[in-house]
Amino acid sequence: MQVSSPFNPVSPQGLATKSLLELVLWLGAGVFVIVAGLVLVAAIRFRARPGAPEPPQVEGRHQWEYVWIAGAVAVLIAIFIPTVAMMRAAAPPGGSEDPGPDIIIIGHQWWWEIRYPHGGILTANEVHLPVGRPMVTRLESADVIHDFWVPQVGRKEDLTPGYPTTVVLQADRPGTYLGACVEFCGAGHAWMRISVIAESSQAFDAWLASERQPPPPPATPEAVAGEKLYASLSCDHCHASTVAVGPDLTHIAARQTLAAGRIANTPDTLGRWLADPQALKPGVLMPDFRLTPDQIRDLVAYLETRR
Ligand code: CUA
Repeated sequence: MQVSSPFNPVSPQGLATKSLLELVLWLGAGVFVIVAGLVLVAAIRFRARPGAPEPPQVEGRHQWEYVWIAGAVAVLIAIFIPTVAMMRAAAPPGGSEDPGPDIIIIGHQWWWEIRYPHGGILTANEVHLPVGRPMVTRLESADVIHDFWVPQVGRKEDLTPGYPTTVVLQADRPGTYLGACVEFCGAGHAWMRISVIAESSQAFDAWLASERQPPPPPATPEAVAGEKLYASLSCDHCHASTVAVGPDLTHIAARQTLAAGRIANTPDTLGRWLADPQALKPGVLMPDFRLTPDQIRDLVAYLETRR
């Protein structure tokens, strides 16, 4: 899965980020051309020639130093003013009556815990948004520094343990927007992907309602056996909502991907994941239980009922 481009924003916050990014890119390109050009000219024009004496040694020219100090200050001001404007555009709305965040995203090695505190919902790795509605989102970390970035949706932001921050997530076009952790956070960093799924108000409300429901009880013999196996292996030792060593699995079958965006979520890939987690995501904390093919079939049947 490819991470989306910041040059195709779908929100006012993303648009503000894109404008600032373009400005800095163009200014940086200009500075590069001037500096590289001057170095090139100097290297060619003042190169050593055979038999020539040592050239006169020049200490520096004060007038020119004023020019480039002024130039650097001008470039900094040209970046500073739109940066402040961009920070305002991307900041959460202030106000005395704070209803608390709509969404809480908590970085873990190497997945994302996602909570909707008003709805009492806990999920992982996939953020659902109603199209066009700004969602105040608090970012936290459970362990080390992570960095949340879904380029089309808005600014990137560090998740620092002990220092929660708040951003606004918004998407004005329906779609799935891919992002990633962009701060090296250990062995599984490369597979710490996140997706933002923007959908109509009705679809979003339907998703909230289905996440709030407990999944149906397992119906087939395989699924019933899988449920027993799930309990005897103590899967909830890590995956229960109160522990959160691993992602909540209450509605795992309703998610699009497995292992924080590593692979599409199908019964087949779920079986491969259970058979050898390290093969798909080296470093992952999920143990290899050395399950037999029958056990994998039963567990998959059970987990597939959890939607
Ligand atoms: Cu989390 Cu890199």
